[in-house]
Amino acid sequence: MKSTEPHIFVIFGASGDLTRRKLIPAVFELYKSGYLPDDFALLGVSRSKLSDEQFRHQVLESNEHIESGAETDRQKAAFAERLFYEAIDTKEVADYQRVVSRLSELEQRFGTAGNIIFYLSTPPFLYDVIPARLAEVGLHRQENGWRRLVIEKPFGADLASARNLNASLKRNFDESQIYRIDHYLGKETVQNLLVTRFANGIFEPLWNRNYVHHVQVTSAEPFGVGGRGGYYDTSGALRDMLQNHLMQVVAHVAMEPPVDASADAIRAEKSKLFRSLRHLDPSDFRTDAIRGQYTSSMVRGEKVNGYRDEEGVPDDSKTETYAALKFYIENWRWSGVPFYVRTGKRLPTRVAEIVVTFKRPPQALFRDAHGMFDENNQLIMRIQPDEGLLLSFGMKVPGEGFNVTKVGMDFHYKDLCEDDVPAAYERLLLDAMKGDPTLYAHGDSVEYCWEFVDPIVDAWKNDPDLPVYGYPAGTWGPEAADDMISPEAMTWRNPCRNLTADLTYCEL
Ligand code: BG6
Repeated sequence: MKSTEPHIFVIFGASGDLTRRKLIPAVFELYKSGYLPDDFALLGVSRSKLSDEQFRHQVLESNEHIESGAETDRQKAAFAERLFYEAIDTKEVADYQRVVSRLSELEQRFGTAGNIIFYLSTPPFLYDVIPARLAEVGLHRQENGWRRLVIEKPFGADLASARNLNASLKRNFDESQIYRIDHYLGKETVQNLLVTRFANGIFEPLWNRNYVHHVQVTSAEPFGVGGRGGYYDTSGALRDMLQNHLMQVVAHVAMEPPVDASADAIRAEKSKLFRSLRHLDPSDFRTDAIRGQYTSSMVRGEKVNGYRDEEGVPDDSKTETYAALKFYIENWRWSGVPFYVRTGKRLPTRVAEIVVTFKRPPQALFRDAHGMFDENNQLIMRIQPDEGLLLSFGMKVPGEGFNVTKVGMDFHYKDLCEDDVPAAYERLLLDAMKGDPTLYAHGDSVEYCWEFVDPIVDAWKNDPDLPVYGYPAGTWGPEAADDMISPEAMTWRNPCRNLTADLTYCEL
């Protein structure tokens, strides 16, 4: 098994929720699977005063996101010996000298060869503070080993702040040292989009404006904002999900084939795609950019709060918990093909998928139960859950005549590997450890996506005439979003939990 080079993994914001929920479980999984080098240590850095022992207990031993069991407990005990903690005020440059001393102590002890990953799992206002402080104490220099910086989303709150952040990071770090994490790119199924398209000869000839009628991308969540109301209200669905995760998915669906499978080649094609997005005209905002907010409702017999009743959300909030856009990609391949992208909280189920709808055959020859059969073929690429692929098409009903029915051909990821599909964070952290930025967002891409989304964010903030539609919790969002797609004589595919649900059984 290929392991990674010796290094120290430093987490800023180590006493926070993400560290417990995602980062430590992912690093521990990598450790168990033999991906970590023997010469490895992890240093947690945060403001809270904790000893090494207390940190180990908090993030590892008493972490409900890590399963227990005799074998796992033995591995936990061995892994705990590599975990350390340093309390500092992350704004105070003087405190960073303590980080320098701790790192050199750990380097001596574990033989980590000067290689360090700094992972920023902190509030975003610290994203330019911490890297600048690290540079002030020389921790950005790569004279003795490599230095990498991993940054969580949100990467900027708008175009201006994203540009400022990129500029501030690049004052001290090279683009090749910066890893902007977008956990959607770590999902196997999102990576598989590239393999489906470019490892097969059958899809790509159809993958263009001549054969594709339109493309839908849906990411639905059944839960509300939970305890994150304070953060979410400053963000909203467009910035929280669409500007980053879903636009990355669009890039994987729509980009041109890269010259090879290297990080540079793939990221270059994605940048080109983002540059080709046709920006919405303000006159389209009313019809092609729909926002909604969930209202209180009964869901499966239980009363569910409306968004404005959630903790930390103002009573008169206009923040969107649902966003749907219709847009075009202005290039040779996609000109004239509408892309519909939507995301929302408190929708009926948790599902993320892409639907490529192909054009109808030019002549409707055969009959189905409703008359002439002229269904579009669809290719559904399921990101989660029930990961897989479904191709729908017409088949003859056995018997007399030429009656046609719609059938599906499906592939489920679970048939391919016995183990669970690896979690996104595991894959992404491993890549950062290996120095492979393919699945990380390039600074240019982030800025192009903001350029596209910024005018809409701005209009939603400042134009009181643009409505925020209420939708009852547990439904598929505002009707206005259905109107957006209906001129194409189409509807959203409102999916079930199970990929191949037919009309008689739909598990939510
Ligand atoms: C996060 C958003 O980036 O992604 C959350 O901030 C959202 O609001 C989450 O719930 C969705 O991720 P996943 O992997 O559960 O689909």
